[in-house]
Amino acid sequence: KKRIGLLTSGGDCQALNATMRGVVKGLSSNLPDLEVYGFADGYRGLIYGDYRMLTSMDFSGILTKGGTILGTSRQPFKLMRVPDADGLDKVEAMKQNYYKLRLDCLVILGGNGTQKTANLLREEGLNIIHLPKTIDNDIYGTDMTFGFQSAVDIATDAIDCIHTTAASHNRVFLVEVMGHKVGWLTLHAGIAGGADIILLPEIPYDIDRIVEAINRRAQRGAGFTILAVAEGAISKKDAKLSKKELKEKMKNYKYPSVSYELADQILKKTGIEVRITVPGHTQRGGSPCPYDRVLSTRLGAGAAKLIMNNEYGYMVGIVNGKVKKVPLADVAGKLKMVDPDNQLIKEAKLIGISFGD
Ligand code: F6P
Repeated sequence: KKRIGLLTSGGDCQALNATMRGVVKGLSSNLPDLEVYGFADGYRGLIYGDYRMLTSMDFSGILTKGGTILGTSRQPFKLMRVPDADGLDKVEAMKQNYYKLRLDCLVILGGNGTQKTANLLREEGLNIIHLPKTIDNDIYGTDMTFGFQSAVDIATDAIDCIHTTAASHNRVFLVEVMGHKVGWLTLHAGIAGGADIILLPEIPYDIDRIVEAINRRAQRGAGFTILAVAEGAISKKDAKLSKKELKEKMKNYKYPSVSYELADQILKKTGIEVRITVPGHTQRGGSPCPYDRVLSTRLGAGAAKLIMNNEYGYMVGIVNGKVKKVPLADVAGKLKMVDPDNQLIKEAKLIGISFGD
């Protein structure tokens, strides 16, 4: 007999339900006495005891369903140790609810912040399994996170759609891609969508190099240029600023995001009309792509196997194509960034894509 808790935390993504389905189907196919408790809205449900018992029916028909059947929320790690206004110690509250339900383990689906809290709960003595969710693909210790490939599909579609209109109007188009502080999503969608210039947080840009690339295309007779811009892209100038100086700049920042600042500069320097497209949260929406459905099923099955073996304190990841248990203690708090010298970037540069550096 096993009693497990499930929660999804942080920003949602497409394959959360598919992953939970994998875990529960894996367990229920092998353990006749399984009890599953789903906590509402991430850690909030665990803190305040907001949960419900789930049956196998809850996990039927959700492979293709985006979002999360449990709901999610962001509970910043740094606030976890700070008591609520009414004096509630959130970490203690989570532990109490775990013990009150006599859980054998808690399966936590989430990104970096979620993982830090998961590791904190592990240090506090709870049995934890973490599953790496995020469209950003920035979780250290796994080659791939679920949600990433689905988001690549959507961001690529956005760039594809821009292509025909950009060509008709001879304009410069900026497509701003999500990814938080890392450039994985922009790199992959940019290449898949045939962007001419790709700007990543890991490779600070020089506006003059961008203008040169646009002018080079114009001289060659290509009337338009498409830039895939990571929401976290940063100029070489800004990358040199201290944290304090950057904060000061952002205080008086008049643009909604980096793409708007760039558009302004490009228009001033080239005189070419510029347009901006921000697909935003569409990148996290809709059904998981087939790749993610397979990945989530594998990770879910991997988690079920660990739980059946009473092995806890791990993230279930993919390393060199194989499902692997990765100790949470080794990866929590680390960020997986794009290496500017990676092979994909070298290949992209070889075919003439500019990274603005
Ligand atoms: O981490 C996923 C992500 O979509 C990032 O790419 C983005 O920066 C952030 O979440 C947006 O967060 P929110 O949904 O809170 O606006």
